[in-house]
Amino acid sequence: MTKRTARATARANIALAKYWGKSDVALNLPAVPSISLTLDGLVTTTTVTFDETLAADVLELDGRPASAKETARATELLDRVRASMKAPSFARVVSANRFPTAAGLASSASGFAAMAGAAVHAAGLSWSDAKLSALARWSSASAGRSIFGGFAKLPAGVPGDAKLAAKPLFGEDHWDVRIVVAEAAKGPKKVGSTEGMERSRLTSPLYDAWVQNAPAITAVIEKALKKKDLDTLGAAMEQSTFAFHACAMSASPSILYWQPTTIAALRTVETLREKGTSAWATMDAGPHVKVLCHAADAAKVKRALAKTEGVLATMVCKPGARRLPER
Ligand code: DP6
Repeated sequence: MTKRTARATARANIALAKYWGKSDVALNLPAVPSISLTLDGLVTTTTVTFDETLAADVLELDGRPASAKETARATELLDRVRASMKAPSFARVVSANRFPTAAGLASSASGFAAMAGAAVHAAGLSWSDAKLSALARWSSASAGRSIFGGFAKLPAGVPGDAKLAAKPLFGEDHWDVRIVVAEAAKGPKKVGSTEGMERSRLTSPLYDAWVQNAPAITAVIEKALKKKDLDTLGAAMEQSTFAFHACAMSASPSILYWQPTTIAALRTVETLREKGTSAWATMDAGPHVKVLCHAADAAKVKRALAKTEGVLATMVCKPGARRLPER
């Protein structure tokens, strides 16, 4: 047998409690715990084929050949799977994102989660969700959370713990909330999250305070999530977001992910709250604003964001189910 192939899909997730900073760079362990919501509608599908005739790994992303850097990141993941194979060979990886362009969301979380699922299955291995999550997490920590549907938690990693994995907290039916995405700018961000968090760790005077305080913020978020208390969760989520952005801004050289539209959208969220709608903002390593609200308020929140100066597009996302069917 020369070819073993499998396909898997995974969805993007958005952190309610943010991950920023690593406690072990080689093992890609997060310095702080994070909690995420997997999103419906933002799907990556990846096929991995181990093929004895290949002389190197080959990666195709959205129909184009991947760069050397992108391929090297895939090879690292594949090497970890190959270490468990009896007859390892190079692989062809074909990955496609079904992300509406308005999403303004990164695809590395769903990308590495889908790649992990497909590679392990193609290799003929049956790994637990925890093992799959640890594999995806090693490539991109947020990807460890995308192995699960609904709400998941990735604990902080103790240096040396290669097995650190995310765990599911609640399924997608736990709470009928929405994430409304406001796209604030076009084009790729200037500083990727891996680089941004390393620079923060090495140079920001606020980094240690962030790492010290993040577990308490995450604990508030986890408790509020259990009780479905949106006001408490939302306030803590904003604190988590602003705290990690403060770390990035105070790094040297400074990393400012925000655009004027980011601030405008944040003001819209404040105004919505002043008028009685429970709407709360979060941002990742980029300018887009993602707003958490009750399902019943999503249309109102979307309208307000769409009217905001500079917002290019808006999109409403529901909690997403786990989706790693492999074949
Ligand atoms: C700001 O998971 O992309 O979106 O582990 O270096 O690949 P690496 O980083 P990544 O970081 C995501 C950071 C964030 C917050 C979050 O999703 O928790």
